[in-house]
Amino acid sequence: MTDTGPTIKAMVFDAYGTLFDVHSVIALCNELFPEQGPALSHMWRAKQLEYTWLLSLMGRYEDFWHITEKALRFACRALKLPYDEAQQAQLLEAYLHLEPYPEVQQALTGLTGYPLAILSNGSPAMLEPLVSNAGLQGTFAHVISVDELKIYKPSPQVYRLAVDKLGLEAQAIGFVSSNSFDIIGATAFGFRTFWVNRAASPLDELGVVPTTTIGKLTDLVEVLNR
Ligand code: 2OP
Repeated sequence: MTDTGPTIKAMVFDAYGTLFDVHSVIALCNELFPEQGPALSHMWRAKQLEYTWLLSLMGRYEDFWHITEKALRFACRALKLPYDEAQQAQLLEAYLHLEPYPEVQQALTGLTGYPLAILSNGSPAMLEPLVSNAGLQGTFAHVISVDELKIYKPSPQVYRLAVDKLGLEAQAIGFVSSNSFDIIGATAFGFRTFWVNRAASPLDELGVVPTTTIGKLTDLVEVLNR
């Protein structure tokens, strides 16, 4: 799609799955439960997201740390992996040390002309250590959490939060996510969107198409200069 909107004045990033690899926990999962790492990590992530959608539809809220903990417990039970409190704590702690994707530093360095922000489901108590453990402290002008609204993505209220914090109209904000439900929600809201489709997955059939699709974060600099 040709992007003919106004000049983009700020770039806002999703965190989990976009900047930080949620499946970097597979190594620890494998250590604790040999050969079960990929299955555990994938079910853990799927349930974590499912719980955000279910709670939001029910008009309820629990912060992302508690949801992450409950999703882990469910995934272990579903996969019949016996776990104890210490293992659970170790796996949850790993969520504060998720590895950034290899191209993150280079991509963000290439975007220093823009104010940068994170807009995430993560609670402030998760996002602050996540960003600093990855050596990215000082990179983002805003680290915005849904926690102050108590509703999850893809509620339009969440995307509105970035508009309010940045003081920019939606069309002047470039929003970057690898999560298809998030990029669809952000596009429907009115952001200019960049879907980082690392796995070349098909787009969900919801009739909403991201402004631009790229293969990796470092492609952003080139598409923004077009
Ligand atoms: C985030 O909000 C969707 O998990 C993703 O960071």
